[in-house]
Amino acid sequence: MVNAEDGERDWYTKAGVRRDPRRLLREELGAGRLYFPPALIPYAAHPLVRALPTEAQQALAARHLFQYLGFTTHFETEVVNRATQRIATGRGGVDTPARTRLDAFRIYCDEGYHALYSFDVVRQIADASGVEPVPYDFAPFRERLDAVGVEALPGQPVLAQLLQVVVFETLVTAILGEVPKDERVLTVVRQIVRDHARDEGWHHAFFARFFRELWARQSAAERVRVARCLPGLVRSSLLPDLRPVRAALAAAGLGAAQVEEVVHDSYPRAATERAMREAARHALRLFEETGVLAVPGARDAFLTAGLLAGGAGDDP
Ligand SMILES: [Fe+2]
Ligand SMILES: [Fe+2]
Repeated sequence: MVNAEDGERDWYTKAGVRRDPRRLLREELGAGRLYFPPALIPYAAHPLVRALPTEAQQALAARHLFQYLGFTTHFETEVVNRATQRIATGRGGVDTPARTRLDAFRIYCDEGYHALYSFDVVRQIADASGVEPVPYDFAPFRERLDAVGVEALPGQPVLAQLLQVVVFETLVTAILGEVPKDERVLTVVRQIVRDHARDEGWHHAFFARFFRELWARQSAAERVRVARCLPGLVRSSLLPDLRPVRAALAAAGLGAAQVEEVVHDSYPRAATERAMREAARHALRLFEETGVLAVPGARDAFLTAGLLAGGAGDDP
């Protein structure tokens, strides 16, 4: 199924879980280092946020980082590895060669390690800074993602889970590329994001090939349903989860009306849709190349979801 290139990659020496040391927080907290690049915190420059005491603004940035890492911890274990272990154990609903299963086990280890160090760094920074993460419940996000599959692919939860992972692993968000480059950011944060990005480059290639095989095995009727499921999966993977944002803003001392004002102003629809299209461009190219967009109704579904230029997302 997945070709020989994967086997040639020396996972045993190059994967982060095999090669990288435990990343530790250095003595940088009092030295003016940033928790996260301000440009990647949509509400950081909002006047109501800027009017907060410096300490509260710093705690907000720390909690934005904690939120990103907490999301990663949950997503890797509850979504990515839920599907990856099905491929690895040969229960993905398609005939999977041993080579592909071996690679899926390697990815399973990678993702488990990404979850581990994401949680590890949250704890290191929380303990050293005294800023605790706001409690985060991942279940609503996962349920929203699962609901897309239940609706578009009723009775095929495994296929829906495989598609979730194909979509997510072929998305490219700004964070993995931008954080390591920003020398103002805490070294430990830049290190783990860079470590993560390296592994994900390989995962991207694996899941793109996996999707080509999966797609080739679907009947014409299944292809129609899969094609119509994908736009919803892309949207629900990429639209910002605003519940933890509201919780962090409230914890910083903003009142309910101010929280809503900051959220309203900081996540304008056109910019959010643009960022979503940008992050989805590789996934879209994959769907174009494999013929997903040629299936009856597919192009319209992607247009309506704002994932193609000229679609709903182009509204001002
Ligand atoms: Fe990962
Ligand atoms: Fe991954």
